[in-house]
Amino acid sequence: MELRTPRLILRSFREEDVDAMAQLFANPDFMRFSLGVFTERKKTVEFIEKVMGWNRAGIPSQFTVVPRGEDAIVGYCGFFQHAEVPGEIEIGYRLHPDYWNRGLITEAARAVRDHGFADLELPRVISLIHPENIPSRRVAEKNGMDVEKQIMFRGFPTLVYAITREQWLAKRDAS
Ligand SMILES: CC(C)(COP(=O)(O)OP(=O)(O)OC[C@H]1O[C@@H](n2cnc3c(N)ncnc32)[C@H](O)[C@@H]1OP(=O)(O)O)[C@@H](O)C(=O)NCCC(=O)NCCS
Repeated sequence: MELRTPRLILRSFREEDVDAMAQLFANPDFMRFSLGVFTERKKTVEFIEKVMGWNRAGIPSQFTVVPRGEDAIVGYCGFFQHAEVPGEIEIGYRLHPDYWNRGLITEAARAVRDHGFADLELPRVISLIHPENIPSRRVAEKNGMDVEKQIMFRGFPTLVYAITREQWLAKRDAS
């Protein structure tokens, strides 16, 4: 499956994406505000197998971020679910630092949000963000989300940004 934006192609993960993703997961900037870089290729294989399993099961899933005209994966954007935050569907994203601050993940996250509400009919989506992660907070704001509360997630203070389907519909009708 594929989502298209003016500058990006977001497509489902494939087995052959392991090399490109292993390079990204080994990059400390790409992995800012995570539990750390992946030092073993096995962890990238596990990530891709997990995400491909969600695709097969029809569970909201992740997409590769590929700039149009470039044959390279520069990030990911899509849906996660976490046992620690039951009943919620998160929009999560990471991008290679060479591509930061061009509005690319905002473009990707909006396409993923629209897909979630329009095609998957999700009732609401969230983003889980460390309070000091200013770029990611900006992306969530530009994605129409508001801070709902602060929780502890994986041992860190974490802001829960959220937008409901009703809020999305109202904002869409107003624009
Ligand atoms: C978060 C991330 C995906 C954002 O991707 P991106 O494509 O650069 O995001 P955008 O360009 O769409 O938006 C970034 C916004 O943050 C702003 N920003 C960036 N650094 C900033 C800073 N130090 N202070 C204030 N604003 C800052 C940008 O100006 C932009 O906002 P604007 O459009 O209002 O000018 C990218 O920084 C990244 O991969 N970070 C590491 C991984 C990560 O933190 N993932 C999210 C985990 S919750």
